[in-house]
Amino acid sequence: MHAIQMRGITKRFGPVVANDHINFDLEQGEIHALLGENGAGKTTLMRILYGLYHADEGEIRVDGEVVHIASPKDAIRLGIGMVTQHFALVPTLSVAENVVLGYTDGFRVEPQAAQQRVAEAAARFGIEVDPAALVRHLSVGERQRVEILKALYRNARILILDEPTAVLVPQEVEVLFETLERLRQGGLSVIFISHKLYEVMTVCDRITVLRDGRVVGTVDKEATSQAELARMMVGRETFGVTRQDGRPQGPVLLRIENLSALDQKGLPALKEVTLEVRAGEILGVAGVSGNGQTELSHVLAGTLKPTEGRVLVGNEDLTGADPARISAAGVGRIPEDRHEGVIGELSVAENLALEYLDEFVKGGRLDHRRIRQHAERLIAEYQIKASPTDRTRTLSGGNMQKVILARALSRNPRVVIASQPTRGLDVGATEYVRSKLLEQRDRGAAVLLLSEDLDEVLALSDRIAVIYEGRIVDVLPASEADVEQLGLMMSGAREGTSARV
Ligand SMILES: Nc1ncnc2c1ncn2[C@@H]1O[C@H](COP(=O)(O)OP(=O)(O)O)[C@@H](O)[C@H]1O
Ligand SMILES: [Mg+2]
Repeated sequence: MHAIQMRGITKRFGPVVANDHINFDLEQGEIHALLGENGAGKTTLMRILYGLYHADEGEIRVDGEVVHIASPKDAIRLGIGMVTQHFALVPTLSVAENVVLGYTDGFRVEPQAAQQRVAEAAARFGIEVDPAALVRHLSVGERQRVEILKALYRNARILILDEPTAVLVPQEVEVLFETLERLRQGGLSVIFISHKLYEVMTVCDRITVLRDGRVVGTVDKEATSQAELARMMVGRETFGVTRQDGRPQGPVLLRIENLSALDQKGLPALKEVTLEVRAGEILGVAGVSGNGQTELSHVLAGTLKPTEGRVLVGNEDLTGADPARISAAGVGRIPEDRHEGVIGELSVAENLALEYLDEFVKGGRLDHRRIRQHAERLIAEYQIKASPTDRTRTLSGGNMQKVILARALSRNPRVVIASQPTRGLDVGATEYVRSKLLEQRDRGAAVLLLSEDLDEVLALSDRIAVIYEGRIVDVLPASEADVEQLGLMMSGAREGTSARV
């Protein structure tokens, strides 16, 4: 029996065809993955089902009946609930109030009665939350559970989860999967959006793969493999870039001593961080978003002054130095926000020469011919799909990142600081960036990798530092790191205590 049938769904945004005649079926009581790279059209399709977007063409059936879903209100009435990546909870209210909010037709509920009802619902669905707790005191994983409970409380029979694991540590992912499995046994149908192969193979019954707005195919979990799914998703074989062990390492090239810094609000964000990175190694910093990684990368880039501590590259003290001096000292930077790493209105050639313009001056003027030749060489070497005269803002994320890589790495820096280097990139560009970082390491650079993608940290790093609330919790060799243990440390649980997930 079909809970949902989507037929010929097409959605255009100007020239972009986000969904191109998509057919998608959800059976009752199944967990169905929607798998695809960034930009494949997954969120768009589900926003259409939830009434947030309207399809240009196509038909939706719920329980076999053609429906018109004009808004989330209609969707909820039809038994469809959606949990997005950006939670819509009110932090100052309790869990119970958030769950019943908007479901009481304007009457303010008795807190006691609400708590009672929400506690009952939580027990019935097997979702562990404290109805009396204030949402602002909850972890991200707990907030997600509240969102799921909120949808179930509204009698959702069909639950859409848009990349639910992106914000979770591994232990929380496990709890989520157990919850979904239990709910499925109770008859719930789930659409699980992800771009992670391992996850969909663990939790889903069937998998529909999207690429460039089209359905590549729908397969049974039992009849497929991660390799096949990767091929469907990317349209070719993938390789998986990982580090090779046993390379000799040299002297310490980057030394961070007792570094503290404040965030934008003036609150302590980095607390006495001490790290060393040697020539020929990648030190990965693992952590959940917002635990000081941004501030650390800004201090190392020279765009944030530390309140305490020192930064040394080789024997040179670069504490508080400006970005130009840091570059001149042989530090190549890949900034967290790639739009901050380029000037969008300037051409690709100009961006590639940026920070080193003095090298392109002849007779007191910029030598445009040399800037162009330099760009042509790097465009070829780094496989950038652009011409030297293109405005940089017109480039895709992957190509923009290659411009930044080319500029930072072509000068053979002693130290490379890479912040979230593959965030938002597709599989192809991600592999490219990772292979370039490994190349730098193998050439003898000291690479500091700040990444919220734990798989990336594990694949590339020789040693792994875990950051939590601005402090380095531990530094360990990658060969001794175990996902479980890292997850515990990333969520602030100390060794020996159990995770609060
Ligand atoms: N509101 C919007 N306006 C313009 N373009 C959009 C909008 N939403 C999505 N797109 C475009 O539609 C395509 C599919 O996006 P999306 O559905 O978010 O993909 P996914 O969720 O698979 O990453 C992308 O090219 C994206 O840029
Ligand atoms: Mg999406």
